[in-house]
Amino acid sequence: MSWNWNSIVPKSVEEKGLIILSPLRKKMFYWFGAFLLAVTLWVAFKPKKEKSFAGQIVLITGAGSGIGRLLALEFTKLKCKLVLLDINSKGIDSVAKEIEDLGGSAKTYVCDVSDKEKVRSMAEQVKREVGKVDVLINNAVCF
Ligand SMILES: NC(=O)c1ccc[n+]([C@@H]2O[C@H](COP(=O)([O-])OP(=O)(O)OC[C@H]3O[C@@H](n4cnc5c(N)ncnc54)[C@H](O)[C@@H]3O)[C@@H](O)[C@H]2O)c1
Repeated sequence: MSWNWNSIVPKSVEEKGLIILSPLRKKMFYWFGAFLLAVTLWVAFKPKKEKSFAGQIVLITGAGSGIGRLLALEFTKLKCKLVLLDINSKGIDSVAKEIEDLGGSAKTYVCDVSDKEKVRSMAEQVKREVGKVDVLINNAVCF
């Protein structure tokens, strides 16, 4: 069975009269197939757009040291507005200073996350003073 590359139909099939296509139709069929293939390849391999965090409000509990501090600095590099929450006021003040040195902005709140009532009133205060939080990182541990 030989192939006629001007069409996608094997010659033997054409000779038997099973499929009869005019040369123009064959070409259209061929180009349509090539077009579909190109679209499929484009959809599969087109570069993916990265999600942007710029301008988002990120609240981190236990942001005064360790992992919380590091996350705060990384989100600052992504141009987020930081809300730093910790039981230790000295820790968050020093992280807020680091954030300002990087050109970012941060609001600090002293709060013990094991105290439900305080957390509730703090959430209301953050909403009023900063806005609706987009990303919450519940990093401070409490057992
Ligand atoms: N560091 C590790 O290897 C590791 C491994 C697994 C899990 N973790 C978890 O990750 C989290 C952070 O770890 P880390 O190493 O950065 O700890 P860290 O002690 O360096 O920092 C914890 C921060 O949370 C604050 N904090 C503690 N209790 C609080 C409370 N009740 N309310 C508000 N803030 C409070 C502390 O003041 C401190 O600034 C913890 O939950 C820890 O259990 C850490």
